[in-house]
Amino acid sequence: MCGIVGAVASRQVQGILLEGLKRLEYRGYDSAGMSVLSDEGRLNRQRAVGKVVALEEKLETAALKGHLGIAHTRWATHGRPTEQNAHPHQSGESLAVVHNGIIENYETLKAELEAQGYVFTSETDTEVVAHLLAREYNKSQDLLSAVQSAVIMLKGAYAIAVAHVGQPDQIIGARKGSPLVVGAGIGEAFLASDPLALLQVTDRFIYLQEGDVVRLSQEGMIEVFDYEGQSAERAITVFEHGDGAISKGNYRHFMLKEIHEQAQVVAATLEGRLGEGHVLPRAFGADAEALLDRVKHIQIVACGTSYHAGMVARYWIEKLAGLPTQVEVASEYRYRDVVVPDGTLFVTLSQSGETADTLAALRYAADKGGYLASLAICNVPGSTLVRESDLSLMTQAGPEIGVASTKAFTTQLVAMMLFTLALRRVRQGDDPIQHQIVNALRQLPQSIQQGLALDGAIEKLSSAFAEKHHALFLGRGTMFPIALEGALKLKEISYIHAEAYPAGELKHGPLALVDSEMPVIAVAPNDELLEKLKANLQEVRARGGELFVFADENVSLAESEGVHVLRLPAIDEYIAPIIYTLPLQLLSYHVAVLKGTDVDQPRNLAKSVTVE
Ligand code: G6P
Repeated sequence: MCGIVGAVASRQVQGILLEGLKRLEYRGYDSAGMSVLSDEGRLNRQRAVGKVVALEEKLETAALKGHLGIAHTRWATHGRPTEQNAHPHQSGESLAVVHNGIIENYETLKAELEAQGYVFTSETDTEVVAHLLAREYNKSQDLLSAVQSAVIMLKGAYAIAVAHVGQPDQIIGARKGSPLVVGAGIGEAFLASDPLALLQVTDRFIYLQEGDVVRLSQEGMIEVFDYEGQSAERAITVFEHGDGAISKGNYRHFMLKEIHEQAQVVAATLEGRLGEGHVLPRAFGADAEALLDRVKHIQIVACGTSYHAGMVARYWIEKLAGLPTQVEVASEYRYRDVVVPDGTLFVTLSQSGETADTLAALRYAADKGGYLASLAICNVPGSTLVRESDLSLMTQAGPEIGVASTKAFTTQLVAMMLFTLALRRVRQGDDPIQHQIVNALRQLPQSIQQGLALDGAIEKLSSAFAEKHHALFLGRGTMFPIALEGALKLKEISYIHAEAYPAGELKHGPLALVDSEMPVIAVAPNDELLEKLKANLQEVRARGGELFVFADENVSLAESEGVHVLRLPAIDEYIAPIIYTLPLQLLSYHVAVLKGTDVDQPRNLAKSVTVE
């Protein structure tokens, strides 16, 4: 959703900015640009359409020299991905700005600025910010004051970084609704949308808070001001995952690497959270046990893949903790007149903790009142979602770079199972079911390795999909959301139209689509719905549909013409959704590789959607 980098250093900054942009490409990759302030006091700019490599090529022939600069990789919201619309945007020759977010009142501001003589050359909302900042700078001749007075006039979401020739020793950053972190170097300072962008230069970060404005000056000086303009203390956090997390290692794509990291990150997510046959209550914070005891309902809100994790959790919570649970996509929840039953815990699920709709839903819930408390299940400590929630449980997936979410999803499922077990325990104490699930969780990293051993067989299978235009995924119970997630993965990275249905619903419509051109993928663990699922599969076969079934090794299901069965190791039925996710991830990956699509950065998508 656009990536921002800024640097003030005694060394040349072009290389730092370019590397930062490459690492932020997962946030948007339709165009990129950079402005660097030269030693002669000129703001020199390069922009290019396409991925960061296109900008890099331009910089090879015309390098930007200087010790202070800002850069941007774009995911278009206002205006097509053209060079004219690429950031940085300038006001005249003296001010440059990069922006992530959406300025909702840009039309009003644009009309006002045009009336004052400012000339617009792009279709973006960001250019409004450039001229507004220039106007305010002309009043005060101080960039910090200019940013502070301009941001008050902005409605919507922004993270910005600004440079001005009049103050060649500083960059000003500001954020509201979009993420921005400060990297503290030794005698140098940086800004970025995500710490990953800066790991090559520092591991010390300040996570700016809503409304913060920051001034980075030469010699690494960092001054933060809150929304009211008061000087604010913000703690420096050390990034613990190391820089290796953002390299592909020996893998061809980040997605494949992240799929294969799942055993390890699931183990990390479980670490320190399991007791003898139960989940340790302190996993949710010191006061969590008393709070969980008062919960009577659960409302889960999330987007995309995280929403699917929430859907699985509903089955678990209702069955194992006996609590009525609702799950909704954040973009719907936030605009609904929600009726909040007494004793409802509001739970958000988000890999990034910065998804605009999920954050807006959390704020809507807080404004509405009536909820017992809020809990965020998140992968990024210090993210806005975590800071604004009463409780949090961190997944330990580490940085996920592939746009299609894989390890973030399975660790979310693990976290939601821990949550479910904690809810069950406060209601009925220890019991054999918890014991059974805790044991299965302890085995889970190993079970994941076994599941991933199907990689070769799935790769062979993938050729059956490469020429298809549609695919149908079927599952029942907890496997329905897993089917949804499988369909989402396939469409995200292979661009094959894929839909998922609860298998029992097939006869109410989608069966009409089934013919030999429609591969049907079914997830068939050994559970109480197995026989019903088998009957649904017969309905497909009877219409000539080709079946690809991922089934438990103990399920009696014969291979025959048009019926392909891939066996998964027997697994505890509660944990099965985590394991059955793996072959679907691998399938979409191999189909995408065969089709030659951009696996890690599929068209039109972005990893972290920080605009509405
Ligand atoms: C984007 C990503 C998805 C992700 C969704 C929610 O659409 O491409 O992979 O599931 O955002 O993101 P979150 O960070 O809130 O989990």
